[in-house]
Amino acid sequence: MASKATIERRETALPVQNDPDILNAAARLAGEDMCSIADLSSGEVRAILKLGHHVKHNPREYRNALDAKQMVLMFEKASLRTRLSFETGFSTMGGNAIFVDQTNSPLGERESIADVARNVERWVDLIVLRTYAHDTITEMAANSRVPVINALSDFEHPCQALADFMTLEEHFGSASGLNFTYVGDGNNVCHSLMLTGAQLGTNVTVATPRGYSPDIEIVTKAREIAELNGCEVRLLQDPHAAVENADAVYTDVCVSMGYEHESTKRAPIFRPFQVNETLMQKARPNAVFMHCLPARRNAEVTDAVLDGPQSIVFDQAENRMHAQKALLLLLLGGLSNVEKFNT
Ligand code: CP
Ligand code: NVA
Repeated sequence: MASKATIERRETALPVQNDPDILNAAARLAGEDMCSIADLSSGEVRAILKLGHHVKHNPREYRNALDAKQMVLMFEKASLRTRLSFETGFSTMGGNAIFVDQTNSPLGERESIADVARNVERWVDLIVLRTYAHDTITEMAANSRVPVINALSDFEHPCQALADFMTLEEHFGSASGLNFTYVGDGNNVCHSLMLTGAQLGTNVTVATPRGYSPDIEIVTKAREIAELNGCEVRLLQDPHAAVENADAVYTDVCVSMGYEHESTKRAPIFRPFQVNETLMQKARPNAVFMHCLPARRNAEVTDAVLDGPQSIVFDQAENRMHAQKALLLLLLGGLSNVEKFNT
């Protein structure tokens, strides 16, 4: 149920074409890369989410926005959601998506990343990368004249975090002031969630086993951003203390792609961090459960929680497409083709 404050906020919201966050973001982000959430300002994160909500509810207004644009997706790792949400999102705005499976041919192996960039930019308007090394993405971005989007590296998963906070806004009206708790591995997803939460004024608590905490560079950056936005970023090692008063409890696999050789070692370390009904009961009564998926059922989360009434995991998956459509529109200057933005 939306709170009174939420309803008032929605009623007074500016029409999307007059929204200063969206107009500023459209001017600043056209032609830019998105390798990290830290590449975006708070206003730009807000703009992507506002536009994402609008695109979700008015898809026909954007159906020709990326007419004749070409996007290539080059993925070194498996994907269901990211690949399909980018491909469907792009083609529903009039563009054409090309998928290149790099799982057996890592980028940089056959020819240098810079040479790949110098070729690919001659044919396409946008490069979307899923890689092991984060440097592969930043190197492609440094050498490409067309925008590069990070669709997951070992260090960050920014498109996931944008969709997740869009989902929180949808559920609670606003992410500002919410208590968001991440339980599990301090990994790529955790990093992007910390930065996004800080950008949106969300209090972020992360509970990891000792030795699996998020990267110090991300923690420092997230805390700097949080201070500007009046929220806090806490690191704990007790999952039960971390979920107290949480509005959202989020987890991810404890063995990310590329770390499979650590599975046996990690299983007992992460067992106390499983999100189950006992842990969820310590959160607020109206708390939601979130997961980026794919989930290892009954490992990091039980079936009862994943399939239970508090779970919003498939809303998150759906919103991958809407949030990414907003991002694509901004990076490719697509709003200039939308009638609403031309009146
Ligand atoms: N959440 C996510 O990125 O899913 P995929 O690995 O299936 O793309
Ligand atoms: N942390 C996980 C996320 C998968 C979407 C991984 O990197 O495998």
